[in-house]
Order: sequence, then structure tokens, then C-alpha cells
Amino acid sequence: MKTIVRKVSESGTFTPEDRAALKEAAAVIRAGGLVAFPTETVYGLGANALDARAAEKIYAAKGRPSDNPLIAHVWCLEQAEALVSRMPEKGRILAERFWPGPLTMIFPRSEIVPDRTTGGLDTVAVRMPSDPVAAELIRLADLPIAAPSANTSGRPSPTRAEHVLQDMDGRIEMILDGGPVGIGVESTIVDVTEEIPVLLRPGAVTMEMLTEAVGEVRVDPAILGPVAPGVRPKAPGMKYRHYAPRAPLTLVEGEAEAVTAEINRLAAEKLAAGARVGIICTEETKAAYPAGLVRSIGRRSREETVAHNLYAVLREFDDLGADYIFSESFPEDHLGRAIMNRLNKAAGYHILRV
Ligand code: TXA
Ligand code: MG
Repeated sequence: MKTIVRKVSESGTFTPEDRAALKEAAAVIRAGGLVAFPTETVYGLGANALDARAAEKIYAAKGRPSDNPLIAHVWCLEQAEALVSRMPEKGRILAERFWPGPLTMIFPRSEIVPDRTTGGLDTVAVRMPSDPVAAELIRLADLPIAAPSANTSGRPSPTRAEHVLQDMDGRIEMILDGGPVGIGVESTIVDVTEEIPVLLRPGAVTMEMLTEAVGEVRVDPAILGPVAPGVRPKAPGMKYRHYAPRAPLTLVEGEAEAVTAEINRLAAEKLAAGARVGIICTEETKAAYPAGLVRSIGRRSREETVAHNLYAVLREFDDLGADYIFSESFPEDHLGRAIMNRLNKAAGYHILRV
């Protein structure tokens, strides 16, 4: 299959060429094909969420385990309502507050959603993206679009169209290239089927923001540490070693100076043995690392820059052929909770405390 790449402007003001590309993409979705498209979080790999055969193609293209359900993306509330059998009050409040935006909610599903989309669960994940390209694609397709992140299963999520092409060239009909995404980590997932909502995946809609909107929110244990063998977490995707770079990644936690010293010590050891060593640091600390492939992931004082660059830096170390990666850690509040969740998973929870 030849994968067509079409550029679409990021601004939300579409040129006639943009409109033609969006129409073409919507036609591919309606015909049961696959289109990768930008969202405000990461690039998604889209198919008609109501067509089991189309959803099946997503699993094949990604090499994704078939028990891992997909998120249905909608552009308006009526479209969301058709997918759910009931919209609990707290779900409605969160939708009003955070949609369109980087929030996915788990609802009891309606009978129009096929098993292939939900992995056989009696719930459905629904999200209304704010990215204008994503919203316009869904509107034109006039269907909910099932879309996981557009990476090969297990690789870091794509935050640029180039990343999608690396993983999906020849496997999907089309890529809409809307430039680099804004946020850089996947949406927050909240299960609203129970009286007290449960956070299943941290993202840019933070715990602090959720609690402010609906009061108490529980945190699913799968977020906090490795999932024990045999345990089925509420978000099935959380059990896989996700977001992983090819080289083993070690996170170093502790006081800033002790962390730098430990990373330099570990790097020197591996460099002396002839290995390629990647170091993930920040604008504030980068001058403290004399050796290795040193990459700043962003500014500590502006966490959104860290989220924005996270997956691109992990992919860059794949391209550079790093043998080992050592990374600084971040405080686990606000957006830091999402950043550390992804870094912890990428590291397979390999953390050194100094
Ligand atoms: O930001 C995002 O959410 C991106 C963009 C493309 O929108 N999409 C995304 O999809 O991250 P994916 O497939 O990579 O992650 C979906 C997560 C998985 O962990 C999956 O297990 C969980 O959502 N999920 C989907 N349906 C669910 C359900 N009914 N109950 C619990 N978890 C569910
Ligand atoms: Mg994913």
C-alpha cells in the first residue's frame, strides 16, 4: 500500500488545499480505511469506530494486542451521546469543563459500538479532541473515529507526522500532516461509570483540575507502579511496556546535584566500556553533563515543554543508536504526574534513588 501524506495547516483556518485533503481523508475513513491525523496530544491512527472490520485494521497496522480497546473520537456532544447508554452526572460536568480537550472518559457503551472497538468490554472510551484538524476530520467523516496513538505498539507515541511515517509507511492509506502536536503526551483517562471517578491515565487535564471540578477522584493502582502478572488493570493498555525506547532507560531520582553526579558516574562507566550513552536532562541542568549524547527535554520551570518533547527525545535516542539512556526525574504533581508516568513506563520502572 502507498501511504499518501497531505499537509494541512495547523492554525484552524483551512485553505482550499487543506479542505480538499480533509475531504479526501474523510472519504478514506468512510470507506473503511486508515488515516493518521494530528490531535492536541499525539497523532492518532483513525478508522470508523462503528465498523468492526475497520477497527480490526488498526490492530493489524500497529501490531497491537487485541484485548486493548480503542478510544472513540467525536466532534460534538450528540455524537458522544450516541455511543453511551448513560452519561453519569460527573461525566457531564467533566465534558462541559474539559471538552473539547485532552480528556477521555469511560462510559457504559451503547449497542452501536462494536466489540472490536471496546475489546469486548461493556464500556467505551470517548474523547472530543480540540485540535482543529482532528475535529474537522471527524465532522466531515460524520462518524466517530476510533484512534489509538499512531505508533507501532510498544514504541513511543508520535508527536510529529515524521514519527508516524517511520512506523506506518506502507501500512495505512493516508497521513494528515498538521505539524508538531501541542501537548505531547496522551489524554487523561477517567472512568466515570462509578460514583467516584477513577483516574486511569494521567495527562494534561491534571488530578488537581479534575478534583476541582468534581471533588474526590480515585487513582487506579496501575498508574502508580508495575502491573502484577495476571492482574487486569481497568485500562488494559496500562499493563504493556509502553512508550519504550530501544535502549534500556534508567531514571535517577533525588536532589538535583546528587542526580547529576550519579548520571555522570553511570555514563562514564558505560562510555569507558565503549557504549553509546544517552542522557536526558533539562535546560537548567544541561551544562552539568560533560560527556555522552546529552539532550535537553525542556525547562523544569515550564513542565509543558518537557511533555511536549518527551517522545521526540526517546525516538531520537533510537535513531542515534543509544545503548543506554539515563534520565533525570520530575516532581509528580500537575503535569509532572503524566510525565513521570510515561518515563516510568519507558524505563520499565527501573528507578535509582540517590
Ligand atoms: O491522547 C490520546 O488519547 C490519543 C490520541 C490519538 O487521541 N490516543 C491514545 O490511544 O492514546 P491509545 O489507544 O494509545 O490509548 C488508549 C488507552 C489504552 O490504555 C486503553 O486500554 C484505554 O485507553 N481504554 C480504551 N477503552 C477503554 C475502556 N473501555 N475501559 C478502560 N480503558 C480503556
Ligand atoms: Mg498508545
